[in-house]
Amino acid sequence: MTELSFIHRYEPATDPTRPPLLLLHGTGGDESDLLGLGRTISPGSALLSPRGKILENGMPRFFRRLAEGVFDEEDVRLRANELADFVAEARRAYGLEAPVAVGFSNGANIAAAMLMLRPEALSGAALLRAMVPLSDAPKADLAGKRVLITSGAMDPIVPAENAKRLAASLSESGAEVQHEILPTGHNLSQTDLQLMVRWFSR
Ligand code: MLT
Repeated sequence: MTELSFIHRYEPATDPTRPPLLLLHGTGGDESDLLGLGRTISPGSALLSPRGKILENGMPRFFRRLAEGVFDEEDVRLRANELADFVAEARRAYGLEAPVAVGFSNGANIAAAMLMLRPEALSGAALLRAMVPLSDAPKADLAGKRVLITSGAMDPIVPAENAKRLAASLSESGAEVQHEILPTGHNLSQTDLQLMVRWFSR
């Protein structure tokens, strides 16, 4: 594996018409977690899958938090920029276009922060169980970027109101947002997969 600034896995594209995916795992996951999901939702896409650099009781994450759902926002900013720099590095190393982020939970939250702070790093994002990552994010220009958000109506970690605020703020910044609220909790369901397959094939 090419030496870059994040431990990661990379699978080259087999279908050049498909966008590269930046796969971002949840708390306690790693760079292998979402490869299968990536192959299912966008077959033939190049897959770029880094491991979060923060360890919380041994569990990898993409930024520090003070408590569940309470983020260290200075660290969110630092880590979102660091991850955007990695994406730029990987694009040069592997010859990739700007990827679509596919993030679950903590991975969705860092992807949302990247959209707000470094919009050029991503061409779009599928955010699974995401919440608002920054209380005072700068106004980004997200025109032309598609964002899918899937939330769980019974999610004990992400309040429904918070996910709605995220969707509203991304669409106020110009993104084409599709927000789906599913009758489930924090874990992914079959419906998340079906929604992503449909969203990617559009
Ligand atoms: C986070 O810390 O990003 C959220 O609480 C989601 C999680 O990782 O549990």
